[in-house]
Amino acid sequence: MSILTKSGVVLIEQPGGPEVLKYETIDLSVPGPNEVLIEQKAIAVNFLDVFFRSGRFQLPEYPAPIGLEAAGIVTAIGNDVTEFAVGDRVAYYATTGAYAQKRVISVDDIFRLPDTITFDIAAAVMVKGLTAKMLIKDSYAVKAGQYVLIPAMTGGVGTLLSAWVKSLDAIVIGTVGSPAKKQLAEQRGYKHVIDLQNEDLTARVNAITGGSGVDVVYDSVGKDIFDKSMDLIKTGGTFVSYGGASGWPEVDAEQLAQKNIHFVQAQLNNYPGYQNKKGEAMKEVFEQVEKGIFDVQHPLVYSLADASKAHADMESRKTTGSIILRP
Ligand SMILES: NC(=O)c1ccc[n+]([C@@H]2O[C@H](COP(=O)([O-])OP(=O)(O)OC[C@H]3O[C@@H](n4cnc5c(N)ncnc54)[C@H](OP(=O)(O)O)[C@@H]3O)[C@@H](O)[C@H]2O)c1
Repeated sequence: MSILTKSGVVLIEQPGGPEVLKYETIDLSVPGPNEVLIEQKAIAVNFLDVFFRSGRFQLPEYPAPIGLEAAGIVTAIGNDVTEFAVGDRVAYYATTGAYAQKRVISVDDIFRLPDTITFDIAAAVMVKGLTAKMLIKDSYAVKAGQYVLIPAMTGGVGTLLSAWVKSLDAIVIGTVGSPAKKQLAEQRGYKHVIDLQNEDLTARVNAITGGSGVDVVYDSVGKDIFDKSMDLIKTGGTFVSYGGASGWPEVDAEQLAQKNIHFVQAQLNNYPGYQNKKGEAMKEVFEQVEKGIFDVQHPLVYSLADASKAHADMESRKTTGSIILRP
């Protein structure tokens, strides 16, 4: 193996708390056939990374790399690569090992970034934007005028999802975990923001909807909020579950039957737009960026070596919006 360069990477020795994320320097080999070397400029942090780090999602072996998506510049190519050249701006969103300064990656896993999309914005909107697209377009196609309950509306996915739903003229009712997050959401123009620390979810939603309830819940919080949000859905409405930040909900068929509720479990890794790694599914997400719908100009930035701090802050609900690691 011919060594080309060194790279700082974050590895997990074993599952555990944020402290298991260790920054190390490793040797990188010359890219082989069908491979390129990328110098990464912006790496995304997702709550999914927390699940992989903590052991809630299994990793095949340890020490394990972590992280799913990043954007950067091609700095070397394998000798048979024609699709990409040194200097190309590229990104990827579904290949574990993103927490790294540089990485060698298959050309099948990367796509060229449009000139309008900066590295930071790419890292801010790929997995989170694809998740929002999966929810709005495939899981339940929301319509103008409908009431939509979005727990954790100022989180990474929540920020993009709320903005996209609002742009479709549906009525966003969002929840947040603190007065500061409520203030942020109101500054963004949302009228119906419920601070779960200080307000009663049921009373507020009933007041907003005149007691009719909501048409759909797009939920990533899970256990803590499940029973209450189920009670707030209209007869014949829909509950889309796409995460369990507080634990997975326990779904009971009888509870669904009481109001003919449609229950949808949405998983990005089963979604065709995620399986196809050449970025076609990103076009619609990037269009929303270009239209100015998403508020992603100022993601929260940590240094790559501080990945453990980024995880600790995310898990303790201190963060809002998209989080980026800077190599
Ligand atoms: N199904 C899929 O394929 C898929 C794809 C991507 C992401 N997801 C899920 O989408 C969710 C959002 O992901 P993200 O990366 O954008 O994270 P995030 O929303 O930025 O962070 C999680 C948020 O969840 C809320 N929360 C409520 N209860 C919590 C608890 N007990 N512990 C921690 N957080 C809690 C917090 O907001 P408040 O303080 O405002 O309540 C927190 O900011 C995650 O659950 C993730 O697993 C699912």
